[in-house]
Amino acid sequence: MPEPPLSNAEFDAMWRKKHAATRRTPLVIGNWKMHKGVFEALELADEIAALVRTGATDGVRIAVAPAYPALYPVSEALAGSGVSVIGQDVHPEPEGAFTGAVSAPMLMAAGCQGVLVGHSERRQLFGDTDEAVRAKTLAALESALYPVLCVGETLEEHDAGDAEAVVERQLEAVVPHLDADGVKKLVVAYEPVWAIGTGRSATPEIVDEMHGFVRLVVARSATPEAAIPLPVLYGGSVTGDNAAAIMAGLHVDGVLVGGASLRADSFASICRAAR
Ligand code: PGA
Repeated sequence: MPEPPLSNAEFDAMWRKKHAATRRTPLVIGNWKMHKGVFEALELADEIAALVRTGATDGVRIAVAPAYPALYPVSEALAGSGVSVIGQDVHPEPEGAFTGAVSAPMLMAAGCQGVLVGHSERRQLFGDTDEAVRAKTLAALESALYPVLCVGETLEEHDAGDAEAVVERQLEAVVPHLDADGVKKLVVAYEPVWAIGTGRSATPEIVDEMHGFVRLVVARSATPEAAIPLPVLYGGSVTGDNAAAIMAGLHVDGVLVGGASLRADSFASICRAAR
C-alpha cells in the first residue's frame, strides 16, 4: 500500500523537533547581476575580504555571484577568505556550439562552487522554462556545483492567490529528478518576482510561511530527512533595515541580495543583521 502523504502538521512537528537542535549558519548571497566589470568587481571583492578579516561577517556564510568576466579574478581575490563565488546561470551542456553560453565545467574552472538556476530574470527575460531549469540544476550537480534554485510567483500570480501553486510547480519540476546527494547539495531561494528590485519586500510572515511550504514540498518530493536541513533563502528587496526581521523566521536560512549587495557597507549591514 502506498504511504499516505505526509501532512503539513506531521512534517511541521518533525521539523520543529529536529530544527531546535540544528540551527544553521545563515547564508548570505550577493547577486551582482549585470553590474561591475572586472575592475569594479575586484574593488568590491577586496572590500568584502577586508570586512571578513575584521570579523564584520562572523557567524554568516557568504557567497557572491559576479558576472562571467569577473568570476575568475574575483575567485582569486577571495581565495582563502571563506567567501565562495558562484555563477549567475549555467548552460546544461558541458560544451558545444552554444554561442554566448557558459557551462558548469567552465564555472568550476573559474573558481565557482555554486550557481544560481532559474532566477526570475532568466525565466522572464531569457525564456528559461521549468525543464531548462531542471537541466541546468542537473548539470550543476554533475560538475559538483551547488545549485541555488530560485522560485517565486509574479505579481499577477500572487494577486490571484496562486503563489503556492507556482512555487510547487517550479520545485516539482526539479526536486523529484535529483538523487539523495543532489538534494543534500541543493539550496532553494524563494524570490517573489514582485519583490525583486521594487523596494517592496515580502513581509516576514509571508516569507516564513512560504519557506515552510517549500520545505514541505521538498519533504514530499524527496524525503523529510532531506528537507529538514535544506537551506531556504529569501530574496527580493532585502536591505540592512529589513534583513533581521526576515531572518527571524524559523524557516529562513539566509538571503539572496541584489541591489544592496553592490556596496560593501550595505552588504555588511545585511550580514550583521542576518546572524
Ligand atoms: P534585489 O534582487 O535584492 O535587488 O531585489 C534580488 C535578486 O534578484 O536576487
